[in-house]
Amino acid sequence: MKFPGILITAAPAGSAASVTELTVEQLPPGAVLVRIEYSTLNYKDALAICRGAPVVRSFPMVPGVDLAGVVEASSDDRFQPGDAVLANGWGLGESQWGGLARYARLPGDFLLPMPGGLDARRVMAIGTAGYTAMLSLMALERAGLTPARGEVLVTGASGGVGSFAISLLAARGYAVTASTGRLHESAYLRSLGAQHVIDRAELSTLGKPLQKERWAGAVDSLGGATLANVCAAMKYRGLVAACGLAQGMEFPATVAPFILRGVALLGIDSVRAPREERLAAWERLSRELDPAKLELTVREISLPEAIPAAAELLAGKVRGRLIVRL
Ligand SMILES: NC(=O)c1ccc[n+]([C@@H]2O[C@H](COP(=O)([O-])OP(=O)(O)OC[C@H]3O[C@@H](n4cnc5c(N)ncnc54)[C@H](OP(=O)(O)O)[C@@H]3O)[C@@H](O)[C@H]2O)c1
Repeated sequence: MKFPGILITAAPAGSAASVTELTVEQLPPGAVLVRIEYSTLNYKDALAICRGAPVVRSFPMVPGVDLAGVVEASSDDRFQPGDAVLANGWGLGESQWGGLARYARLPGDFLLPMPGGLDARRVMAIGTAGYTAMLSLMALERAGLTPARGEVLVTGASGGVGSFAISLLAARGYAVTASTGRLHESAYLRSLGAQHVIDRAELSTLGKPLQKERWAGAVDSLGGATLANVCAAMKYRGLVAACGLAQGMEFPATVAPFILRGVALLGIDSVRAPREERLAAWERLSRELDPAKLELTVREISLPEAIPAAAELLAGKVRGRLIVRL
């Protein structure tokens, strides 16, 4: 059986990505064969498509950190043909063939049953971005964040993680400040639930080690100088969830916010999060996201469109989420 998929291959100039005809026999071994209905295009997928390494750890590689579809065949007792399933993380699109193809073969441990009330399109509309935003919210609340403690900042606000973080926080009653480089998207950010919108330029150049206390909590998907400034501007015992590096990998901070204000920095990893936490996150996502707001964040594209869209995404021109129809 032949089917289309994006394949990233090693090339003299690094790597090249194209839509290719694949066969089931080519798929890596695994207990469960999934017919994929929807995947997504995340920042990491865009990096893989446009630059290959270091996201792609071995070639050839099918990118796509998320997938949702139906079990076609299974030798794992937990999954039967016809079951609706989803998978994200676990090295999909990095070291394991991922979701940007019509079929994937995976270990059963990678798969979760479709959360109640969601289907493949909606679960991919949420995707790793929504799931990471939920892991961030869960980490902040586990550490004691409540709406009564004050405003919560979301950086990279008009991106995938940022858009979901705003919606989820606002739905829980938090007063959200969105930081964005796209002030012309302010109406969109307010429609998601942001009370205030600030220019990301306020945070993107390294400032003093301790700054005016502004926020009780933060979800940061940028890293770099922004994360250092966010930590420096947290209220006493403020809580920061660090989940991304869209500005940079470095963290040019001092220990001052941590030892003088008791600020806590919480690391968020979606790739290897334990199964129980994944199930809890998806269950909460199925209950707490407003489907109407979800539609506001989504643009559906075809598989061939995913390749040019990857460059757009890296250039910061994509608002919200791109879901890929297989
Ligand atoms: N920890 C995990 O497991 C995990 C999971 C998913 C994603 N991530 C990471 O989280 C980050 C965001 O992912 P995403 O899917 O939301 O990406 P995305 O949709 O591309 O959003 C990133 C946003 O960051 C802002 N931004 C981009 N470049 C910037 C720069 N140079 N300086 C300042 N702001 C910049 C933009 O927001 P504005 O236009 O609003 O300023 C952009 O929309 C990525 O680094 C991704 O790798 C991590």
